[in-house]
Amino acid sequence: DPVLELVCRMPKAELHVHIEGTLEPDLAFALARRNGIALPYADEAALRAAYDFDSLQSFLDLYYACADVLRTADDFRDLMLAYLERAAADNVVHAEIFFDPQTHTARGISYLTVLDGLEEGLRIGLQRWGISGLLILCFLRHLSEEDAFATLAEAEPWLDRIHGFGLDSSEKGHPPSKFARVFARCRELGKPVVAHAGEEGPPAYVVEALDLLGSARIDHGVRAVEDPELVARLAREAIPLTVCPLSNLRLCVFGSMAEHTLPQLLAAGVRVTVNSDDPAYFGGYLNDNIRAVQAAFGFDAATWQRIARNSFEASFVDAAQKAVWI
Ligand code: ADE
Ligand code: ZN
Repeated sequence: DPVLELVCRMPKAELHVHIEGTLEPDLAFALARRNGIALPYADEAALRAAYDFDSLQSFLDLYYACADVLRTADDFRDLMLAYLERAAADNVVHAEIFFDPQTHTARGISYLTVLDGLEEGLRIGLQRWGISGLLILCFLRHLSEEDAFATLAEAEPWLDRIHGFGLDSSEKGHPPSKFARVFARCRELGKPVVAHAGEEGPPAYVVEALDLLGSARIDHGVRAVEDPELVARLAREAIPLTVCPLSNLRLCVFGSMAEHTLPQLLAAGVRVTVNSDDPAYFGGYLNDNIRAVQAAFGFDAATWQRIARNSFEASFVDAAQKAVWI
């Protein structure tokens, strides 16, 4: 497919990737050995065999368990480098990368250990592959508002080192409204905010993310199609959606790629981007997602060019940098 070859080679931005979700089994076992800890799986094959999810929660349980091998700043640096090398191979030239500090601080790993390591990885990655990266601190929505405020307080002395804030983890039963006051404070601090919404949760959560959190982009948002008025609004207000097709497939948001709502969203004029979410767990990085979408829908080159342009337009870099890419 010449279109596929063109898209794979096209420069792109990735706007929805969790650094903890880029932990490949080989690195997980290498870090476990380095840190003298045991994973609850015999070997890489046994761990891979556990990547059989039936919902977001079934994935999150494993994702949080594996994160336990991340202990030192060097671990976070190596994790970042492994992702950036893989992303650069897919012609990702810019990435906006989520990290979940609460997953680590709850285990006694300090916020600065995490931040120092991720930043060192970003510095080396920029030198080595010319790929730029921004960090987005995500609050875990299954935890309390109080816990989110405590995390924000830990981040505040080093605010210039992160670009924005996000909201992830178990969506059902944890609506955006639970974090309205936290996000108001984040915006007061002058940072853009984003939120996962409409992945497993209803379209009403997307509306809340926009109206109550001031979300500049919606992460996933694929269930928005259940509310035509919302789809019209997303298009009218040019609100970007960071869609993650293989993630949605592996977490059973859709039964097959053919049922994915990406074509409907595109047809409605929504600013859709394609991203990898947790590539180590969901069977692929950005170009693997593109290949899976192309196999199901066979988009033309112009559609993919639009999706690539959307990724730069929806990014948080300044207008001068966008002009270089677009
Ligand atoms: N954390 C990591 N990946 C996630 C996803 N797809 N949804 C919610 N939280 C996440
Ligand atoms: Zn995500």
